[in-house]
Amino acid sequence: MTISPHSFYPRAAGALLTPHGIFVTGTDTGVGKTLVAAGLLEALRARGVAAVGMKPVAAGCDLVDGAWVNEDVALLRAASGLRAAEELVNPYLYREPIAPHIAAAREGRPIELAVILEAYRRLADQAEFVVVEGAGGFRVPIDARQDLADLAARLGLPVVLVVGMRLGCLNHALLTAEAVAARGLRLAGWVANRIDPDMAAYAENLAALEARLPAPRLAEIPRLDAPDPKRVGALLQGWVAGPGLSGNSNIEII
Ligand SMILES: Nc1ncnc2c1ncn2[C@@H]1O[C@H](COP(=O)(O)OP(=O)(O)OP(=O)(O)O)[C@@H](O)[C@H]1O
Ligand SMILES: [Mg+2]
Repeated sequence: MTISPHSFYPRAAGALLTPHGIFVTGTDTGVGKTLVAAGLLEALRARGVAAVGMKPVAAGCDLVDGAWVNEDVALLRAASGLRAAEELVNPYLYREPIAPHIAAAREGRPIELAVILEAYRRLADQAEFVVVEGAGGFRVPIDARQDLADLAARLGLPVVLVVGMRLGCLNHALLTAEAVAARGLRLAGWVANRIDPDMAAYAENLAALEARLPAPRLAEIPRLDAPDPKRVGALLQGWVAGPGLSGNSNIEII
């Protein structure tokens, strides 16, 4: 299997990099971005693609065997088909599980977009595909002026939106789709993730998203007893194997 670069879609204004990756965002924090990003990595790995996960900014970690570990970073690394240096996978790690720009200010380590872009560039040199997970939602601030949408725009990657299916998600999903378009980025698709198994009128909410979101639904993830990236990867396999991913991400999987 080989992957060849193409230019299927216009680069976002100001984007520096040649995309061969995807930016995973969500309607909120805790909606399944890591599960979907790790699932995507598993699906790519199952097809023989050397893909790597990236979590540019992570807030919240535990001390494991003398090292500070963030759960998202650990999950993405476990699902990646390629080992890469920790500082490239996760250039910014903060102790407290709080908004990144506040953690950065408290710990005296400001987030620099240039550092993240360079890390992405180096990962993209090593891997055939990079799956970048945002933090929280699309407009989470990273400093006094900029937010993650600025990072996504500079990366110029197509966006996958994980919709955490619960009351309030319609508004969050539609606002996020608008914000993605406003940055000149392509919404490659969205994933319905059933984080609230008791959500009332689930089918009607799903239909409302299908009617309004300007991109295809890539997968529907049921409530899982044991959330497993491989299981999610199997649900995303159709998208990864089909023309959708290559058409949306500047790669062609042959
Ligand atoms: N479909 C699902 N079924 C069961 N549990 C799920 C499902 N989706 C996500 N979860 C669980 O919900 C929690 C939050 O998911 P996840 O960490 O992927 O969210 P996130 O959007 O990446 O959060 P963050 O903003 O902290 O990065 C995790 O414990 C995850 O295993
Ligand atoms: Mg996460």
